[in-house]
Parts: sequence; structure tokens; C-alpha cells
Amino acid sequence: MRGQLDKQKILVIGGSKFLGLAVAQRASKAGAEVVIGARDLEQAAKAAAQLPFASAIHVDITDEGTIAAAAAELGYVDHVVITASAHHNVPVGELEHDKIVTAFEAKVIGPMLLAKHFIPIMPPTGSILLFSGVAAWTPSPGYTVMGVTNGAVAFLASQLAKELAPVRVSAISPGVTDSGTWDTLAEQDKKNLLESAASSSLVGRAGTADDIADTAIWLLNAGNISGETIHVEGGARHV
Ligand SMILES: NC(=O)c1ccc[n+]([C@@H]2O[C@H](COP(=O)([O-])OP(=O)(O)OC[C@H]3O[C@@H](n4cnc5c(N)ncnc54)[C@H](OP(=O)(O)O)[C@@H]3O)[C@@H](O)[C@H]2O)c1
Repeated sequence: MRGQLDKQKILVIGGSKFLGLAVAQRASKAGAEVVIGARDLEQAAKAAAQLPFASAIHVDITDEGTIAAAAAELGYVDHVVITASAHHNVPVGELEHDKIVTAFEAKVIGPMLLAKHFIPIMPPTGSILLFSGVAAWTPSPGYTVMGVTNGAVAFLASQLAKELAPVRVSAISPGVTDSGTWDTLAEQDKKNLLESAASSSLVGRAGTADDIADTAIWLLNAGNISGETIHVEGGARHV
């Protein structure tokens, strides 16, 4: 793996934990200079301290000022990966306006504004990697906000790929993945979720952070792929 991203500078927003951290670790192993972007700079610095040639920067994807400041401070990046999301998984009768807006800011509006500020500091060979999710293709009660924001991410990848070419823009759409984010659930609830994901997958298991990190590194290197959403969900859409 070492060498695939040699000397490439990669900003991972959401990189201080979960899938973002897994991608940051794998990119670092592949020789990249990683910058961990997070709204909590202390957490980002802790994550960066575990990796060679890594650093941390404050980025709140819902705050355009911090995005612009990060672009100005970095001055150059080859690739940007954005795993940030804000969850609002409730039945329609319990939806709250501000939480819906935050979810769209984290997954859709923030990445648009990121493109605005980062494209001027990226080379033609660079790429932006967004995160969608299987909820967009498998509607489920209580997951309207997640489903619609993830669907919007797939369309955003296509739109940005066209406008920002030759910079490549793609998205990964994970299925239910044991990234750490589900650890907030009670132990039995998490077990049920992962078992249910396994039984609604063609490969009979939930996703792992390694599945996503492998795909992310492959996509960052995939010079002839742009505008696509790559589904890493064991075929869950086909069950
Ligand atoms: N894990 C799954 O089962 C699954 C399934 C489908 C799709 N996905 C998608 O994959 C991506 C990564 O998921 P994950 O499993 O790593 O868990 P996650 O809980 O969605 O992780 C979100 C990450 O974004 C960061 N973040 C949240 N708000 C932010 C903001 N305003 N600015 C900057 N960073 C922010 C969080 O860090 P802080 O809270 O510390 O700031 C965390 O690092 C997400 O887009 C998610 O929707 C995941």
C-alpha cells in the first residue's frame, strides 16, 4: 500500500474518529501527508499525533468562515475527504426544522462551500470524496433526513464532477458499518442493528471501517473515475 499516495496532501474532514479516522490512517500508511480537519481541534490534534507527517486544522463544515480559513491556511491540498454528518433520525411527526437544516449543512451545503473555497488551491489531478449512505436507496421510517441528505450527496458528486473537472468528485455510499458511531446505542440495540444489516446484505455481514478505507484509497487513486457513487454495502440495495 505504501507509495500509492506518496507525498499527496490529503485533508480529511471528520478525520478525528470513525470512518474519517480509518481513511486518514490508511492514507497515511499509503504515504500521504494527512491533515485532520474537525470542529474540535483538540481531538483532531490527538488523532494527528498518532500518524507520521500529519497535522490538525479547525474546520466546522457547517461554518463557511472556518472552511475559507482552512483553505487559506493550508494553501494547497491534493485531495479532500469529507465524512461529516449530523444525525436527525426521528419519525416525521418529530422532525425539527433546525436539526434538518444542520443535517443538510453537514452533508450537502458544507461540501458545496468547501468546493468553492478549495478548488482554487487544488491541482487538476486532485479529487474531492464525499460520503453518501445506503439510507438514500432503502427508505425506512425514521430515516427521512438521512435518506434525503445521502441522496443529495450522490447528485452533488455528479454536479460538482462536471463543473470542477478535471478535478474528480465522487462519493462512497456505505451500508450499515461498524465504525464506532453505533457505539452510542445500548449494546443489545447495536447487536440487533448489525445482525439486521448482515441479514439484509448479500454478503451476510455488516460493513467494517476497513471496507470503507480500502475503497477510499482506491478512489483517491482512480484517475479515470469521476461523478460516481460507489456502493460499499454488500449489495443491500438488491435484497
Ligand atoms: N457508519 C455507518 O453505518 C454509515 C452508514 C451510511 C453512511 N455513513 C456515512 O459515512 C460518513 C461517516 O460516518 P461514521 O460512521 O464515521 O460516523 P458519523 O457519526 O456520521 O461521523 C461523523 C464525523 O463527522 C464529524 N462531524 C460532525 N459534524 C461536523 C461538523 N459540523 N464539522 C466537521 N466535522 C463534523 C464527527 O466528528 P465530531 O462530532 O467530533 O465533530 C465525525 O468525525 C457519514 O457521512 C455517514 O453518514 C455511515
